[in-house]
Amino acid sequence: MQEPLANWNGSELPLSEVRVSVLDRGFLFGDSVYEVLRVYHGRPFLEREHMDRLRESLKELRLSIDCARLETRVHETLQHSRVTDGLIYIQVTRGEAPRMHHFPKPTPTPNELIWVKDLGGDPLASLRGKGATAILVEDQRWKRCDIKSTNLLANCLAAQDAHEAGCEEALLVADDGTITEGSHTSVFGIARGHLLTAPLEANILPGITRGLVLDLAEAAGIPCEEHALTRNNLWEIDELFVTGTTAEVLPIIEVDQRAIAGGQPGPITKRLEAAYRAEVERVCRPH
Ligand code: PDD
Repeated sequence: MQEPLANWNGSELPLSEVRVSVLDRGFLFGDSVYEVLRVYHGRPFLEREHMDRLRESLKELRLSIDCARLETRVHETLQHSRVTDGLIYIQVTRGEAPRMHHFPKPTPTPNELIWVKDLGGDPLASLRGKGATAILVEDQRWKRCDIKSTNLLANCLAAQDAHEAGCEEALLVADDGTITEGSHTSVFGIARGHLLTAPLEANILPGITRGLVLDLAEAAGIPCEEHALTRNNLWEIDELFVTGTTAEVLPIIEVDQRAIAGGQPGPITKRLEAAYRAEVERVCRPH
């Protein structure tokens, strides 16, 4: 597999050769935001939606950058990487300045990083047919999970708990018992033919795949309700799945070692997986 090609503030170089100062505020404080896009057939999928969310995250951090220029760099780096099936990672930090908590003056120049990574196929291919497993973990994150910031310590700790339990994902449970989202995915349930997912509030990321799946469900005549699943009603639902840029639509067949829906990917989940795949082909396959 080739090394990812990076673009660091406008210069293209292999990812391993990018150097960043230890005084970069992304490094010191997590004072930075990011995006991850999937590339299919050499084209970024749902690019407009990802760039719009990046703009929102930047606005929340009061970071001002030229997003049109960033987008041009994304296209150029993708083209030069020759990746057809992969990932684009974008991160913008407040930049380098003497360490102080408030925003430094003079305003540092933000650091803009892009890299394009070849996946050479679906990294979760082996799980798609049989489904994945998850555990419940306390949601210990801050109160602005709607910002796609690189402050991901609580997400990483939860993902590690899942990994140590031999599972693929950690479903995060808030103090009131609601399941907010996964450590790096959005969570959906199916109950009596209705699709359920947590409403867009500050406690979850507005997942781009989540938005697409809601649209696909509506187009397929599947009723949708924006209600969070809870620790208690989880065991009454008929199907469970997670969504995300790399997860796509991934069935969850077991939580805390208890089978969901008989331990098999459910029929509505499978329909939505197929609809997702069809949308990828419709949008990205060269005509
Ligand atoms: N994670 N919720 C969280 C906390 C996430 O980190 C992600 C994505 C999602 C799904 O969002 P989307 O459909 O826009 O990818 C939900 C990315 C992929 C990551 O951190 O690698």
